[in-house]
Amino acid sequence: MKIFLDTASLKEIREGASLGVVDGVTTNPSLLAKESGDPEEILLEICKTVDGPISAEVVATDAEGMVREGRHWAAVHPNIVVKCPCTVDGLKATKILTADGHRVNMTLIFSPTQALLSAKAGARFVSPFVGRLDDIATPGMDLVRDIVEIFGNYDFDCEVLAASLRHPMHVVEAARMGAHIGTMPMGVLASLLKHPLTDIGLKRFLDDWEKAKKEAGAKAGR
Ligand code: E4P
Repeated sequence: MKIFLDTASLKEIREGASLGVVDGVTTNPSLLAKESGDPEEILLEICKTVDGPISAEVVATDAEGMVREGRHWAAVHPNIVVKCPCTVDGLKATKILTADGHRVNMTLIFSPTQALLSAKAGARFVSPFVGRLDDIATPGMDLVRDIVEIFGNYDFDCEVLAASLRHPMHVVEAARMGAHIGTMPMGVLASLLKHPLTDIGLKRFLDDWEKAKKEAGAKAGR
């Protein structure tokens, strides 16, 4: 499973990129609004930091406006993927943008049928929002499972990008289900590596090594 960072924070993106396991970045207007600076400059810097798909979302709600904004974002850097909301206009814009040769990440996907139509319109990625479904007491992971199963029946050139992943178990389940990509905040990525037994085990190895060196030194009369 590819790992994307779900943030517009350059500090976090640089930290994540240094781990060598980050394949792309997803941003959205809320994430960019949290950062200070010009969103376009931030996106450009993200593209220079991570050589993979970087999602930049349109904020127009009509197809024409989405296409205009999408073409603008796509011209900023070759890594940019245009993020469109899964609405009637979003679907129309996706068809036009993909015909232009631009990659589209269809966002705010909450049903398998939305994912199916997005793939048919040419979206390169669909983003089912797991955590936001969990937030309303609906199992978000079931949606990822359904979409992966449906896409497995056909040969869409469209990847399932499990989004709104809030904790490590979301990541484990997305990987078990065969989601192509999981996008997550830096905190979740960091938590994937943590294990107390690793820390305890490492401490014991280092303590034993020090002890053995001291004993060898004492024997040699040093
Ligand atoms: C991804 O593309 C979305 O922007 C993101 O995963 C939403 O996550 P949230 O529901 O935690 O805001």
